[in-house]
Amino acid sequence: MEDARGRVTKDGIRIYEQADFEGMHAAGLAAARILDEVADLVAPGVTTGVLDDFIRGRVNELGTVSATIGYRGYKHASCISVNHVVCHGIPGDKVLKDGDILNIDVTVILDGWYGDSSRMYVAGNLSRKAERLIQVTHDSLMIGIEQVRPGNTFGDIGHAIQAFVEGHRMSVVRDFCGHGLGRVFHAPPNVLHYGRKGSGPVLEEGMFFTIEPMVNLGRPETKVLADDWTAVTRDKSLSAQFEHSVGVTADGCEIFTLSPANRFHPTWA
Ligand code: MF3
Ligand code: CO
Ligand code: CO
Repeated sequence: MEDARGRVTKDGIRIYEQADFEGMHAAGLAAARILDEVADLVAPGVTTGVLDDFIRGRVNELGTVSATIGYRGYKHASCISVNHVVCHGIPGDKVLKDGDILNIDVTVILDGWYGDSSRMYVAGNLSRKAERLIQVTHDSLMIGIEQVRPGNTFGDIGHAIQAFVEGHRMSVVRDFCGHGLGRVFHAPPNVLHYGRKGSGPVLEEGMFFTIEPMVNLGRPETKVLADDWTAVTRDKSLSAQFEHSVGVTADGCEIFTLSPANRFHPTWA
């Protein structure tokens, strides 16, 4: 299929051009910088609303636009998901306490390109079980990214993540997935974090998408709270998530949202 801006596959996945990688790198870098900077504010006693205020300010100062403010009525520059919150936690009055783990998810728009990334943070001291969960979740994302190359399928990505996570006796959330992005926030395909080898669309050079596995210490089931956003584990077990935006190259992939300060993982730098 052809349209004004190039090719779309039979699965509805847009194929971007070589030059488009630059726009995605710039947008991804802005998101990553903000996620680097907010790390210095995370501490017991701080509210998630204060973290979001900081993020909102930095989004503006970097000349970017928040993709989440105004998205389906969402009003914040980030999602902040604490402990058993799986994703889409709404920043507000919640005060962080020692040992809390949290995911902060930021999406910015720069020159029309979307940069979407999230990572884990710790307020104060990290418990052993939370440390294990965060490590497995981080590693599952990177193992998924290792599968990104032309000729592999989206099922190969999901399978690699699921096999790794379940091998550590943790569970992969099924109710939320990664997504195509580029000049839009959420586009085909749905990037599942579970699946069978060889299933799903075949990866092609020029595809841009996120991988963002959510991993629970307990069971995979989630429910959405009455605010219509906050997703929590049904069994109240701890949950973690990491997200990168990536682009498929001729022989692998580029990660658009790499941390410039090497702070992607909470125990680094
Ligand atoms: N950034 C999230 C994602 O990874 C989406 C957040 S939408 C919001 O796709 F409205 F909840 F902010
Ligand atoms: Co995303
Ligand atoms: Co995100």
